[in-house]
Amino acid sequence: MENNYFIIARALHIIAVVLWIGGVAFVTTVLIPAIRSNKSADNRFNLFEMLEGKFSFQAKLTTILTGLSGFYMLYVMNAWSSMQWWIHLMIFIWLIFALVLFVLEPLFLHKWFHRQAEVNNERAFFVLQVMHIILLTISLIAIFGGVAGVHGLFY
Ligand code: HEM
Repeated sequence: MENNYFIIARALHIIAVVLWIGGVAFVTTVLIPAIRSNKSADNRFNLFEMLEGKFSFQAKLTTILTGLSGFYMLYVMNAWSSMQWWIHLMIFIWLIFALVLFVLEPLFLHKWFHRQAEVNNERAFFVLQVMHIILLTISLIAIFGGVAGVHGLFY
């Protein structure tokens, strides 16, 4: 089962996860709190657009790489019918991010947030922070579950 391609796929999977979830962690724990401490509502929105906009490309690329390497590993392991809960969680997180980045955001989320930020800026950034904290927490549980699970903690 563990051929060299599988091992390379696992290493690439982790590189993608590090760049992706690391970026989400930075946005959640550094960027949004720093922006929220900014006094001017206009500044907040512009800063967020500019900085998160730059991360968006990296997030899209790493989401694709994580999915390709992950599904390739499942294919090699032929594990579709015996997936452990942590693999379900990984796929769940991946689906949420893929949906947000590739479908919801271009369709309406971007405009919706813009409008919310105009109506009630404080609240819009608060909700944004809470959503990021939830996504980051589930991602970290998936990483913990993945590493601990693969190495036998739950057997
Ligand atoms: C389509 C989405 C995904 C699929 C199909 C997938 C699938 C897999 C598979 C098959 C493995 C190897 C398991 C084993 O060797 O028994 C793995 C490992 C891993 N995955 Fe995912 N994954 C996906 C997304 C994610 C996400 C979103 C994260 C992080 C939030 C993640 C984190 C990890 C980690 C940390 C490992 C390494 C476990 C280890 O070898 O110690 N994966 N994944």
